Amino acid sequence: MADNEKQGSVIRPLSAADLGPVAQAHSMAFHDTFLTKLGREAVVRYYESLLGGPYMQRSVVAVRDDAVTGYCFSGIFSGATTSFLKKNIFYLCLQLLRRPGLLITRMFFKKALTGILLVLGLNKKKIPSGKEPPDYRILAIAVLPESQGSGVAGELMEHCEQAAREMGYDRIGLTVKRNNARAIRFYEKRAYRDDGSSEKSEYMSMEKDL
Ligand SMILES: CC(C)(COP(=O)(O)OP(=O)(O)OC[C@H]1O[C@@H](n2cnc3c(N)ncnc32)[C@H](O)[C@@H]1OP(=O)(O)O)[C@@H](O)C(=O)NCCC(=O)NCCS
Repeated sequence: MADNEKQGSVIRPLSAADLGPVAQAHSMAFHDTFLTKLGREAVVRYYESLLGGPYMQRSVVAVRDDAVTGYCFSGIFSGATTSFLKKNIFYLCLQLLRRPGLLITRMFFKKALTGILLVLGLNKKKIPSGKEPPDYRILAIAVLPESQGSGVAGELMEHCEQAAREMGYDRIGLTVKRNNARAIRFYEKRAYRDDGSSEKSEYMSMEKDL
């Protein structure tokens, strides 16, 4: 496919006006995550909190025929999850109360518990001994199912990596679920490597020298 589709794609900075379509793309790409299960508005609020800052970031969307086909959030997002949870705590609790079934699932119960600990400041991240993880990160990338395999995801990554270089960073990092074989293959092809810091976790930390 892809050649004319790829040529038709434009990558441009992501703005607040894109958050609706971005949330839609998120919900399709990450349909089984805790955030998606809390509803579209919760996803919009999450990305709104990333975009609203105060984070140093250069996030982009891919657009074809005026429609968003993918997005990538990249930058330095220290404390972003805690800040999102604190700002939206009442809204998120309300959504959870409307979906009590979510808490029965062990994985989602663990997520909710982690969220509570983060808000209370009791979930300190353990920095593994050795190298610190890169400050500049790919926080989220997703492409609509019909645009996967078209090369658009690679273009989104290139824009974000170039932004990191321009800001003076020489390493870039990300986290990916170990069972996400397609994404891992995609990152490995772009020279990202497991940094070995999270062997026991269901998530793998990867990094690349820029
Ligand atoms: C991850 C993502 C952005 C990559 O974009 P993409 O357009 O799918 O990427 P590509 O097609 O260029 O590359 C994917 C590679 O995985 C391969 N692949 C496809 N399905 C696969 C599978 N089930 N298992 C392993 N590899 C697979 C592809 O063949 C390709 O490798 P190749 O070029 O050697 O053939 C996209 O798949 C996506 O949006 N996924 C859902 C959201 C997501 O998981 N984001 C990452 C979270 S960390």
